[in-house]
Amino acid sequence: MATKSEKILTIAERRGFFYPSAEIYGATAGFWTYGHLGTLLKHKWENLWRDTFLKLNPNYFEIDDCVIMPEKVFESSGHLEHFNDPLTSCKKCNSRFAADKLVSNALGIEADGLSPEALTKLIRENKLICPECQGELSDVKQFNMMFQVKVGALGEITMYLRPESAQSPYLAFKREIEALRRKLPLGLAVIGKAFRNEISPRQGFFRLREFTQAELQIFFDPDKINEADKWKEIEKFKVKLKFADADKEQEVACKELNSKYGLPKFYVFHMASIQKFYLEKLQIPKELFRFRELSEKERAFYNKIHFDIELNLETLGGFKEVAGLHYRGDHDLGGHQKGSGEKLDVVTDTKRVLPHVLELSFGVDRNICALMDIFYKEEKERTLFSFPQCLSPLDVAVYPLVNRDNLPEKAQEIFDEVSKEFRAFYDTSGSIGRRYRRQDEIGTKYGITVDNETLKDGTVTVRERDSMEQIRVSSDEVLSVLKKLFRGEADFKKAGKPLK
Ligand code: GAP
Repeated sequence: MATKSEKILTIAERRGFFYPSAEIYGATAGFWTYGHLGTLLKHKWENLWRDTFLKLNPNYFEIDDCVIMPEKVFESSGHLEHFNDPLTSCKKCNSRFAADKLVSNALGIEADGLSPEALTKLIRENKLICPECQGELSDVKQFNMMFQVKVGALGEITMYLRPESAQSPYLAFKREIEALRRKLPLGLAVIGKAFRNEISPRQGFFRLREFTQAELQIFFDPDKINEADKWKEIEKFKVKLKFADADKEQEVACKELNSKYGLPKFYVFHMASIQKFYLEKLQIPKELFRFRELSEKERAFYNKIHFDIELNLETLGGFKEVAGLHYRGDHDLGGHQKGSGEKLDVVTDTKRVLPHVLELSFGVDRNICALMDIFYKEEKERTLFSFPQCLSPLDVAVYPLVNRDNLPEKAQEIFDEVSKEFRAFYDTSGSIGRRYRRQDEIGTKYGITVDNETLKDGTVTVRERDSMEQIRVSSDEVLSVLKKLFRGEADFKKAGKPLK
């Protein structure tokens, strides 16, 4: 019997959500193509993200940048020295493994952040062998995960594919703060590609070598870290989290996170905003969501506060990281100021400050993968993605009940009308039941069916995906009914005459 993960992958590949890139030449692990439906879903997620986080403050903006960057950038950022994964290889079959993951899978311990020597010791002491062929494993060594690019006719310039979109705002900071009149906090977001030469991208669509990040870098005055404009609005809001030294998750009010646990208000405000994004906009069930604090050993040395956002994913066997909220201090601007010789401090309130950075960092593909896991449903006669309506790749499908009696002409007319406002699909092939199932399988929220009654009284059937309930609506009003449903201004059952 196929596993849930295999079933989702089959739908993803067959229906055009995503599939291995360049597969006709034999795909390389960690590289995927978004098909037509996947691209629609990804764009909807990205737009929702923009709509949420860029609106938190009128001084938060979006920029776009190159993905190939000079070597100097990564000298200053520390990636050339520190962006390493511990590698071990099988001496018999040459398979390569991220040693920390291999050790933690084999021994059930947290091995993140252990040195190569400590990992080698654990491999030897516990007689760990190659999971593929049971061969002997090599000593662990550090492996830099950046992709090098040789630029110029003779390859004389060494550059790198950026391993995080974050570097772009740091490099753009000087220009943008001047263009934007030196006001802090300044938020600069990028939604764009990042590249990591992952040692073993074996988790299908979750651990990729080329992926998209949606990141917001917020530059702020460190003296104001305990200030948040809309603090009163969120003081009582409860954040669901697991502290590094706790066994269990708990829900703690923002006020208490600040007063009892010492998390700064500026940090907590963004925690609350992220939780609202997941629970209210993406409609992730609360029990599947949490913040998890990373211990000092696990987090990057420059992160002063680091909570990951994790979702409990059945296909991956538990809570997995989909995003992070990082207080990076002055590591970034400090490093680039030193490396470039350019002054990056600013004058605010008559004093000079080198801004600190709060980073909201989301893996877009991981979030897409998580949505497909969480909203995948199997029922007796159908499978469906019960995506929130703001995320469904297609909003509505239009069908003539049969391909005769002028029904296709009328259905085409309605399709043209609703397509002006919505992402619609026109489907004439197969029985109406099969057509409904096909759209359910890809998460299309509503279906409009034109039948003989339509020709008599001008009404059409509108069907809702999750409940499969149907209402009868005048074809002249179907567009305005859909608009109300999508704006959340109407209740489906009351938006027309119920059909028994
Ligand atoms: N700028 C900070 C940064 O890049 P990170 O924790 O390394 O931090 C942020 O990455 C997010 O990017 C992760 O939470 C994850 O969602 C996504 N991500 C990281 N590596 C990834 C990979 N190999 N494949 C897919 N997504 C990845």
